[in-house]
Amino acid sequence: MSDPVSKIGAGVATRRSVLRAGLAAGVALPAGALAARAEGPVPDPLITEVQDWARYNGDGVDAFPYGTPIRFESDVIRRNVPWLTADVISSINFTPIHALDGTITPAGCSFERHHSGAIELAKPDYRLMLNGLVDRPLVFTYDDLMRFPREQRVYFCECAANSGMEWAGAQLNGSQYTHGMIHNMEYVGVKLSTLLEEAGVQPEGEWIYVEGADASSNGRSIPMEKAMDDVMVAFKANGEALRKEHGYPVRLVVPGWEGNLWIKWLRRIEVTDVPVQAREETSKYTDTLADGTSRKWTWVMDAKSVVTAPSPQVPITHGPGPLVITGLAWSGRGAITRVDVSIDGGRNWREARLAAPGQSMAMTRFYLDFDWDGSEMLLQSRAIDETGYVQPTKDALREIRGTNSIYHNNGIQTWWIKEDGSAENVEVSS
Ligand code: MTE
Ligand code: CO
Repeated sequence: MSDPVSKIGAGVATRRSVLRAGLAAGVALPAGALAARAEGPVPDPLITEVQDWARYNGDGVDAFPYGTPIRFESDVIRRNVPWLTADVISSINFTPIHALDGTITPAGCSFERHHSGAIELAKPDYRLMLNGLVDRPLVFTYDDLMRFPREQRVYFCECAANSGMEWAGAQLNGSQYTHGMIHNMEYVGVKLSTLLEEAGVQPEGEWIYVEGADASSNGRSIPMEKAMDDVMVAFKANGEALRKEHGYPVRLVVPGWEGNLWIKWLRRIEVTDVPVQAREETSKYTDTLADGTSRKWTWVMDAKSVVTAPSPQVPITHGPGPLVITGLAWSGRGAITRVDVSIDGGRNWREARLAAPGQSMAMTRFYLDFDWDGSEMLLQSRAIDETGYVQPTKDALREIRGTNSIYHNNGIQTWWIKEDGSAENVEVSS
């Protein structure tokens, strides 16, 4: 392939040669410069010359029996923040939400959180035990589960610790790190109520205690009302078997509630009269409040949103003119009905366009098709859900929760977009 620079006579630093160099490199031009194109055809080899990909055959259909993303996308990956946890066995990594679009998170880059590592459990070895306050204690094999009526639903799963590092102030530079403990997948499975009805829940059965087959077991209690409502025993995500790290072969899906309850490698469900944590007098995830007291069993994930681009990992590279501002919004209390975007740190708001109507407890993509004048912005988004709940500012949250919390930080995120298009995680007072 010929060198595009030599073809356009580089070295003559005229306005046109700069523009041509821009075109040859495939760089979009600011609106005012478009007129220059009319001066004459620009010899862009990507248009005028036959390229290798048109000259030779590509890979045959058997080259990759299971496909992976093309190598040019190799930076769209989960990332870990090494200093967050002592080792990678009990750790977390982050979904590259800054680089994705639409709403479904591909399984291969969906964040993982485990307390004792991702285990390998084969379908033939899989057993799910249902015991406790039931008429008929049952054990299901994987094949047994395949014989119950199925349902298919899209839900987000957010770790309660998502944005947890931001309580004391802006800390991590990128939406992947500030908001990437979340994924949104299409699940297929059996309703938990179907299995509970099969076993026959006794009248005193007010709670279920659920645990996984991994060493940590991640045992948690869930109220019967939720268990009977929309909880799923899922075995497929985004059309295929769950990935090992997401709980293969079977995980619990607890729509709208913190990721902690979404037990992976689901092994046992015990129907109890009181939450097992209360029996053991231990509390798992609690939220520290400003007055020094704590609250616990705050399961629902409140409405939240974030601008994914532009953002620190996705600077603006094209100068002033048309700019697509985009992001994600979600709520554990129902559907997102509106998302507002501010470019001045929350003083003025304009309504963003939802890519599709919000679905209950699933991610919603929003866009704001914007004409950027090249000046700096304090970019924010604010989610509103079907209950009328409005995503709060970080200051409003801190008034109640203080700064010693880890969990449930759904405050409004600010990106400082600079004139050169770069972006930084900052806070504005509100
Ligand atoms: N289930 C088991 N068995 N073991 C675990 O360590 N971690 C929990 C939950 N279920 C965990 C588990 C936590 S804290 C979260 S946020 C979610 O799984 C994360 O699910 P993911 O790994 O699919 O993202
Ligand atoms: Co978690």
